[in-house]
Amino acid sequence: MGAKILNGTELSKAVKQELGEEVREMVQRGVQPGLAVIIVGDDPASRVYVNNKKKACQEIGIASFEYALDANIKEKELIDLINVLNKDAKVNGILVQLPLPRHINEENVLYAIDPGKDADCFHPSNAGRLMIGNPMFMPCTPAGIIELINLTGIDIQGKECVVVGRSNIVGKPMSMLLLAKNGTVTVCHSKTRDLPEICRRADVLVAAIGKPEFIKGSFIKPGAVVIDVGMNRLENKKLVGDVEYASACEVASAITPVPGGVGPMTIAMLMRNTVKAARLQNG
Ligand code: GUN
Repeated sequence: MGAKILNGTELSKAVKQELGEEVREMVQRGVQPGLAVIIVGDDPASRVYVNNKKKACQEIGIASFEYALDANIKEKELIDLINVLNKDAKVNGILVQLPLPRHINEENVLYAIDPGKDADCFHPSNAGRLMIGNPMFMPCTPAGIIELINLTGIDIQGKECVVVGRSNIVGKPMSMLLLAKNGTVTVCHSKTRDLPEICRRADVLVAAIGKPEFIKGSFIKPGAVVIDVGMNRLENKKLVGDVEYASACEVASAITPVPGGVGPMTIAMLMRNTVKAARLQNG
C-alpha cells in the first residue's frame, strides 16, 4: 500500500497566499503586521529556522525585526529587550528562538513576553487558555498538524489519537488540540511501557520524540494517519524524521514527509498568529 503524502510545503504556500491578501488589506488601512525574532548564539539549526521565518514574513508582507544576540548575553539584558519590544507598537509578535544557552532560564524569558504578542503561544497564559478551550493563539506546530490531518478528510472525533512525546512545544499542546476535536488521546513518553503496542492502536499517530526513525512500520496500524514532527540530522548528514519513512509508507494511509511536511506548516501558523496579533492590537 502506498500512503498519501501530506505535502506541507504546498499547503503552507496556500496558507501564506491567503495571509498575504489579508496583510495587503491591512496595509491599505495603515497597519503592517510586524514580528520580532530573537536569536541568541550561533546554533546552525536555529539560524536556518530563523532565516526561514524571516523569509516567510517577506513573502507575506509582514515586517520582520531580527535581534541576533551574543551567546554570552545576560538573562536580564534579553528580558530588557523583550520589555522594549512589548511596548513597541510596530512589533505585534515576539518570538525567542529556542533552545537558549544554558545560563539563561528559558521560563523567565518566555514569561516576559506580553501574552498578546506571544506568536509562538509559549506563554503560560496562552498555554492555560489552550487547556481550558479558549485559546487566543494556536500553538504553531500542533495547529499546522491539524491542517495536515484535515488534508486526509478524516474526522478526528472519536478516533484513537496517540501522541509520542510530551514536550511543552509539541506533545502537550498537540494532545490539547486533538482533545478539542473530540479525539481519544493517549500521550506516550520515554517511561511508557509497551509503546509499540499503544502506537498500534492509533488511527492518528503523531511522532514528536526527537529520535531518528524511532517509529517503525510495525508500530503502525494499517490505514493510520502518521504525522512526523522529527528533524534529525544523521552522521551522514541525511535529514530524517522520528518515523522510519519507507516501512511506515507501506502501512499508513497518509504520512508527512521530512522535510516538507510539518516544518513549513509550523512557519505558516506562526505567520497566522502574527497577523492575528496585529488585528487584535489594532482593533
Ligand atoms: N525551537 C524549536 N521549535 C521552535 C518553535 O516552534 N519556536 C521557537 N521559538 N523555537 C523553537
